[in-house]
Amino acid sequence: MSNIHPSENSYVMDPESAMEMARLLDLDIIVNKQMGALFPADIDLGRVHDVLDIACGPGGWAMEVAFEHPDKHVVGIDISRAMLEYATAQAKVQDLQNVEFRFMDATSKLQFPEASFDLINARFIVGFMWKEAWPELIKECMRILRPGGIVRFTDTDRGFSPTNSAALEKFNIFASKAFVRTGRSFCEEENANHFGLTPMLGALLAEAGCENIREIPHMLNYSAGEPAHFALAHNCEVGIALLAPFFKKTGVASQEEHEQLYQQMLREIRRDDFRGIWYFMSAYGEKPL
Ligand SMILES: C[S@@+](CC[C@H](N)C(=O)[O-])C[C@H]1O[C@@H](n2cnc3c(N)ncnc32)[C@H](O)[C@@H]1O
Repeated sequence: MSNIHPSENSYVMDPESAMEMARLLDLDIIVNKQMGALFPADIDLGRVHDVLDIACGPGGWAMEVAFEHPDKHVVGIDISRAMLEYATAQAKVQDLQNVEFRFMDATSKLQFPEASFDLINARFIVGFMWKEAWPELIKECMRILRPGGIVRFTDTDRGFSPTNSAALEKFNIFASKAFVRTGRSFCEEENANHFGLTPMLGALLAEAGCENIREIPHMLNYSAGEPAHFALAHNCEVGIALLAPFFKKTGVASQEEHEQLYQQMLREIRRDDFRGIWYFMSAYGEKPL
């Protein structure tokens, strides 16, 4: 498997940014709560021992699994040195001896032997995957899964949208444009306001030979007054601020345009009548026995 764009860091944000790490730590708590369980409800957890979390960030999900399931061994991989360092330190503080974190690029060959894992999890990786990298990564997952093992992708087509904030939706159009221009989107229409990824996940798993594929939708209502409002609105504010260099680099918005729209977005998402629901989806399946 070759790198598609080997000379570039493919993540849409600086993976070493402290702000991004803090954003991911907050988001992990909100998303875990919304998803309700660490693993899909219909799998036989007794058959799961070795777990891999691809692009684990600061390690929230991986550490939660290690804590809740001392019988399982968890490996988290990421390319952010800062996040891996944080995750390793946290695991030590919590005395979690069944979790480890390693530097690894998920757009290259995964440095694990065949049949190493019973379950592979990858959540919100759309921000660094090129379209062509998806089938390659899923093929790699199938190689390192044991027969009967499970691979699950949870991802989204938009940043915390749809909403009634005109500015936030404009930012989403910038994102879909930038994703088309950098070969990340499955929908070639720049003004589509989504990445076209979630409809593809089941098909990509099937193409790689996965069986018994299930697709589970998730929704997070973060309208004003809802329990998730403050945390997700704040997450959105940080995330969009960090995307400014990516928007500038891809020619979808200048710094000045970004700043102006950003102020409008702050006003809109802090209004009492703000409405916003974020949809994302899990697709998972099994490697044939
Ligand atoms: C949106 S975060 C998701 C973090 C975590 N999975 C979660 O759900 O909270 C994306 C993560 O991908 C990592 N990343 C970026 N490019 C990567 C690559 N090529 N290989 C592995 N991880 C990468 C980033 O450092 C970041 O931690």
